[in-house]
Amino acid sequence: MDSSLAQQRQALRQHMRRLRRSLSDTQQFQASQQLAEHAILFSPIEQSHRIALFLSMDGEINTRPLIARLWHSGKRVYLPRIDPTCPTSLIFQQYTPQTNLIKHRLGMLEPEENSEEICTFTELDVVIVPLVAFDSTGQRLGMGGGFYDRLLADWQKTSVFPIGVAHDCQLQEALPIEFWDIPLPAVITPNRLWQWNNKEA
Ligand SMILES: Nc1ncnc2c1ncn2[C@@H]1O[C@H](COP(=O)(O)OP(=O)(O)OP(=O)(O)O)[C@@H](O)[C@H]1O
Ligand SMILES: [Mg+2]
Repeated sequence: MDSSLAQQRQALRQHMRRLRRSLSDTQQFQASQQLAEHAILFSPIEQSHRIALFLSMDGEINTRPLIARLWHSGKRVYLPRIDPTCPTSLIFQQYTPQTNLIKHRLGMLEPEENSEEICTFTELDVVIVPLVAFDSTGQRLGMGGGFYDRLLADWQKTSVFPIGVAHDCQLQEALPIEFWDIPLPAVITPNRLWQWNNKEA
C-alpha cells in the first residue's frame, strides 16, 4: 500500500474524530434531533420495515433519537454485532427497548446474543452507516476496520439501501480513496440530504 496515502487517511481520521468530539453537548443534542426529523421523512427510511443502525460513540452523531422514532413508527430495528465465528464480519440482531446491551472489547455496545433475532444483510431494507468523513461524491472514510466496506461490497446487487449519517462538519471536498472503499448513495446530516446516483457503479 502507498504509505503516504495510508498516512493521509490516518491523519484525516484523527482530525475529523477530534472535530466531532469537540462539539458541545448542546450542538450534539440539536444535531441528533434534526437528523432524526429529516431521516424519518426520507423515503427509503419511511418505506423500510427492517432497518439497521449503530449506537453512536466517539462524537458520532447520536442515533438514539432516530431509533426512538423508528420504534414508535413500528419499524424493526437491528444493530450490528461482530460475527463471533468470523471477527472481520458484521451480523445484525434485532434491537428493542427490552434488549440487553453488552460492551464489546472494541468499545461498542452490542445486543446480547440471541440467535433467534438475527437478520441477514440482504433481509434488511436500509443500513445506516457510520463514518468519520464523507466527500461531495459519496465516498466515505470509516474508523479503519473495513467492516462496512466488506459489508457493502455488493450492495448494488441487493435491495439494501445504505445511508450514511454524520455531522455537517464531517464533509470534505475530496477524500484520499482506496480501491476497496465503497461509496454511499446517500448521506443525511442535520442540515442536508446528500444523494448520488451510484447504484449502477
Ligand atoms: N471487500 C473487502 N474485502 C477484504 N478486505 C477489505 C475489503 N474492504 C476493505 N478491506 C480491508 O479493510 C481494511 C480497512 O479498510 P479501510 O481503511 O477502508 O476502513 P474504513 O472504511 O475506514 O472502515 P469501515 O469500512 O469499517 O468503516 C483495509 O486493510 C482493507 O484492505
Ligand atoms: Mg474504507
